[in-house]
Amino acid sequence: MICNTQMFTTTRLAANQSLRRYKVQDLIIHMHEHCLAGRPVHIGQAIFATIFNLISNTIFSIDLVDPDSDSAQEFKDVVWEIMKESGRTNLGDYFSVLRLIDIQGIRRRTTGCYKKLYRIFDEMIAQRTLSRSTLSDSPRRNDFLDVLLDQKDKNDFEFSYDNIKAVLADLFIAGSETSSTTVEWAMAEFLRNPDCMAKARMELTETISSGQQVEESDIDCLPYLQAIVKETLRLHPPIPFIFRKTIMDVEISGFAIPKNTCVPVNVWAIGRDPDVWADLLSFLPQRFLGSDIDFKGQDFELISFGSGRRICPGLPLAFRMVHLMLASLLHSFDWKLPNGMMPYDMDMSSKFGLTLQLAAPLCAIPMLDG
Ligand code: HEM
Repeated sequence: MICNTQMFTTTRLAANQSLRRYKVQDLIIHMHEHCLAGRPVHIGQAIFATIFNLISNTIFSIDLVDPDSDSAQEFKDVVWEIMKESGRTNLGDYFSVLRLIDIQGIRRRTTGCYKKLYRIFDEMIAQRTLSRSTLSDSPRRNDFLDVLLDQKDKNDFEFSYDNIKAVLADLFIAGSETSSTTVEWAMAEFLRNPDCMAKARMELTETISSGQQVEESDIDCLPYLQAIVKETLRLHPPIPFIFRKTIMDVEISGFAIPKNTCVPVNVWAIGRDPDVWADLLSFLPQRFLGSDIDFKGQDFELISFGSGRRICPGLPLAFRMVHLMLASLLHSFDWKLPNGMMPYDMDMSSKFGLTLQLAAPLCAIPMLDG
C-alpha cells in the first residue's frame, strides 16, 4: 500500500519534522499562558487540536485548526461529526434487515459529512495542482499530498482523485483521535502516579538541557518515556477491538469458524491477560524496561496497532507525535490536579466512542519548576 511504501517512511517523516516541532511549540506557549494564570487546561481538547495540526502539516504542510479561519473550523467539525457517527453502534451491522432502512440515520448523516469533507479536499487538491504546474514558481512541498499527486501523475495504475480523497479522509479519521486519546491517557496516568511523572521528568532533564526544545530525534534516548507509552497502550488501547474475516473454514482453539466470518480480536483483554501480565491492573512502565515486547505487530501480547498486513500504517507517525508531545509537556512543566484533587480521587473509567476515551475529561494545571 502506498501509505507504507511512500508516505510513512523515515525519510519522508524526517523531512517535515520541523513543521511538527513548531506546532508543539505553539501548544507549549498556550500551556504557558494557563501556567501563568494558574488556570487548569482541558488536556484532551488542547491535545486534539495539536495532533490535528501535526497530521495536517504532515499531509498538507498547513494548519487546519486555525481559530481565525472558517474553513479550518469547518474541516475540524466535519471530521469530528464523522468520528462521532462512526463511534455509534450501528444496529444495521447486527441486523441485516435494518441495514436497508438506516433506522438510526447514520448512513445519511455520514454521507453528508463525507460530501463536505471531499469538497474541502477538492479545494486543496486544486490549489496544489496549480502550484505544482510548470507555470508556478512555488517550491515543492514534498508532503503526503505531493506523494499522492505524484502517484496520480505517474498513471502507472488507476489512481483517481476519488482514491486520493478517500486516503486523505482515512488518515485524518484514523489518526487524530487515536493519537490524542493516547496522550490524554498517558497524562492521566502521570497525574495518578506522581512517581512515574517524576522519573520521566528526571530522564528528560538528564537527556535534554533545560530551555531546549525536545526533538523527535531525542526519542531514542528516552527509554523510560517509551516504556510509559507502551504501558499506556497496554491498559488503554484506543482501538479495543480489531476485526479479521476468515477466508476459509478454520478451527481455532477447538472452535469451528466458517468462511467469511468476521472475527473480533479483543486487544483490550489481551493487555489484561493474567497469564501474560503480572499485577495487571497497576500502571508499571518498568515492566517494559529490559523487555523486548513492542507494539510493532510481532508480539501478540501487545497489539495496540494491530498486526499483520492490516497493521496501522500510521504507526511511525503516531510514534513520533505521541512521544514528542508527552516529552514536551513534561519537559516544560510540572503538573498538578485542580481544586486540591488527590491522585486517588481521579476518575479513570473509560467510555467508548470511536476510541476508548477517559469518561471524565482530564483537567490539570501546568506549573513551572522551582
Ligand atoms: C496511538 C495512535 C494510534 C493507534 C493506537 C492506532 C491503532 C490502529 C489499529 C489498531 C488499527 C487497525 C489495525 C489492524 O486491523 O490490524 C489502525 C488502522 C489504521 N490506522 Fe492507526 N492508530 C494510531 C494512529 C494512526 C495515525 C497517526 C494514522 C495516520 C495519520 C493512522 C492511520 C490508520 C489507518 C489509515 C488505518 C486503516 C488501515 C486499514 O484499514 O488497512 N493511525 N490503527
